[in-house]
Amino acid sequence: MSQTKDTSFMDTIVSLCKRRGFVFQASEIYGGIGNTYDYGPLGVELKRRVKEAWWTRMVTLRDDIVGLDSAIIQNPKTWETSGHVSGFTDPMVDCKKCKGRFRADKIEDARCPERPSKKPGECGGELTEARAFNLMFKTHVGAAEDSSSIAYLRPETAQGIFLNFKNVLESSRVKPPFGIAQIGKSFRNEITPGNFVFRTREFEQAEMEFFIPPAQNEQWYKHWVAERASWYSDFGIDPAKLRLREHAADELAHYSTGCTDVEYEYPFGWGELEGIACRTDFDLKRHSEASGKDLRYFDQETKEKYFPWVIEPAAGIDRAALTFLIDAYDEEEVEGEKRVVLHFHPEIAPITVGIFPLVKKEGMPEKAAEIERMLRTSRLRTYYDESAAIGRRYRRQDEIGTPFCVTVDGDTMKDDVVTIRHRDTMVQEKLKVAEIEGWIANAMRSWKRPAR
Ligand code: GAP
Repeated sequence: MSQTKDTSFMDTIVSLCKRRGFVFQASEIYGGIGNTYDYGPLGVELKRRVKEAWWTRMVTLRDDIVGLDSAIIQNPKTWETSGHVSGFTDPMVDCKKCKGRFRADKIEDARCPERPSKKPGECGGELTEARAFNLMFKTHVGAAEDSSSIAYLRPETAQGIFLNFKNVLESSRVKPPFGIAQIGKSFRNEITPGNFVFRTREFEQAEMEFFIPPAQNEQWYKHWVAERASWYSDFGIDPAKLRLREHAADELAHYSTGCTDVEYEYPFGWGELEGIACRTDFDLKRHSEASGKDLRYFDQETKEKYFPWVIEPAAGIDRAALTFLIDAYDEEEVEGEKRVVLHFHPEIAPITVGIFPLVKKEGMPEKAAEIERMLRTSRLRTYYDESAAIGRRYRRQDEIGTPFCVTVDGDTMKDDVVTIRHRDTMVQEKLKVAEIEGWIANAMRSWKRPAR
């Protein structure tokens, strides 16, 4: 993946994110801290919507998947058993002159930190031999800082699910095939984070481990690849920019029988959005052996005891949010002016409806505020704005992707009729105040990604 392909478009996204309060550089007032970001008021709403869309589809609307929220710091044996302590490494090389550090397997895409137009080593420095660099963040638990207190920040949410397999089995009425889903922070000391929030050291994952009888492996693997790819296009991502990439045999972990990435064509090239892997019975078996606890499932009907196999769709929430942003972005010329618009799916948009009084008098602000209170629910996020000309207020909402705007004018005061405007078409309609909610619900249901 080339980092230089269309950096100007990425710059546009980064600057919009900062200007409108989606994403800020973390610790900015102290000069930041290597590729770490904070989410502002709109960014946090966007991420919440992405998580909600994932959770609703993966858990709420299914009767075979339950949720979990496991700890970030687990017993360190977890990571010894899973293979992360010995094997969760990237090959790293250093430049002896500029002290740049690069992933040896991605060196083609890397730039010299001293001379960004050059490749690593082209500053005249010699590159070291590649050595394995473990990506896990280490910490100490308790007051003593010795080897007995070492612990790790989890590098994936998946292991917390395996550790709780038995607990969930015994406390919930589930049996294979069934899944356990969780969303939470993961941490990786990436050698070269980059491309904004695409690759960071602290990020949120949405993972689901689907436990199945081994014979159903092929069927469920196919199911989850198709289901996860369609989730992105159902929420408005351009299908032409999505593709599935099946891992070659030499890319697979030794225990895995298959892995497919859902990839998106970013301005910097095709990149992994999510991976769907068959992990066989590797994790349950290993944790069973290491802990001495029997993590097999006992099938009452067949009287058989076995380790279920696992299909794992593993997504990144930050990466998904970035993808929704990039994919939604559009610029067009309207009445001689540039209109910047984010064509978010209404369920993904941080704000669903803007409510404006046409002017700040004649009772319109009070009426608009009353309508805002009526519309405000957990599903519909509203925003009241009375400043500037109405055209500017529409443009401000277009730029943050608000799909609908309601304007209170003279007709509202006279006949209870408002103007409602659709972000994508800019078409305006008149309707009764009592009809707004139904109109929005219908427009959300029937929303289609506009052709561009
Ligand atoms: N349990 C399997 C697992 O963690 P992964 O491919 O390493 O698989 C899954 O991670 C997803 O998490 C990726 O597809 C990506 O969306 C996200 N992800 C991984 N590393 C990331 C990072 N450094 N920054 C942001 N997102 C990341």
